[in-house]
Amino acid sequence: MRFSVVLSLVGAALATPVLEKRLDTSTHCGQWDTVTASPYSLLLDQWGLSDATSGSDCASITSLSGTTIAWTTTFDWVGGTSVKSFTDIELTSGVNVPLSSITSAPSTWKWSISSSGTVVADVAYDLFTSATSGGSNAYEIMIWLANYNSGPISYTYSSSGSAVAIKTGVSLAGYTWSLYYGSNGSNYVYSFLPSSTITSFSGDVNLFLKYLTSNGYISSSQYLTTAQAGVEATSGSATITTSAYSLVINS
Ligand SMILES: *[C@@H]1O[C@H](CO)[C@@H](O)[C@H](O)[C@H]1NC(C)=O
Repeated sequence: MRFSVVLSLVGAALATPVLEKRLDTSTHCGQWDTVTASPYSLLLDQWGLSDATSGSDCASITSLSGTTIAWTTTFDWVGGTSVKSFTDIELTSGVNVPLSSITSAPSTWKWSISSSGTVVADVAYDLFTSATSGGSNAYEIMIWLANYNSGPISYTYSSSGSAVAIKTGVSLAGYTWSLYYGSNGSNYVYSFLPSSTITSFSGDVNLFLKYLTSNGYISSSQYLTTAQAGVEATSGSATITTSAYSLVINS
């Protein structure tokens, strides 16, 4: 009896599968599909899908080596004037820390676009902060690398309908940015827009957070809860290929 118990325990131990996860490089098109690739997740996040009269959005991870991930997304949205999807790579480690304790957030992002016809989209980092760790969103900070016929959320618009910056000529991470501010109804949004498209970014994302806290736009006691980078698509057809993306939050 005792002997057979021991034997079956040994058998169970030998049968335990190696806990090594294979990278999921398959294509996902579901509205809320999520692919885990630690320290990241690929999120389809087609939150505005119902605004489209037709279309689709798919994405896949190409490779992951340490903290450098490669991925691609293809969208083809028809109809509506609202954002359909923000398909992105979310960092799953190092977040939920107060802005005051972040020492650096080095990042690289190399990407390219191939599109046909008129595209309304942007390529951007999307960060969220909250009054508490893991709490509800208070502020959203976007760092745009490209703006295709889209525009940032703003409280103020010119007579021609374009958003008016609250600050221009902001020099950060080797580029010049305009800063916009508004609300989308659920949280305040600060958006940094570059003077021209950046297809190979390499810099410290914390510089943008420090700019906002040191100029009194956001309290440094706010927690960074979410750090994403992806493609916010409203309409048109495009494939955005990221050959290398990395983000590390040091605190
Ligand atoms: C605005 O609100 C939602 C929450 O409903 C948020 O997830 C989204 O990213 C928002 N931001 C923009 C720029 O629309």
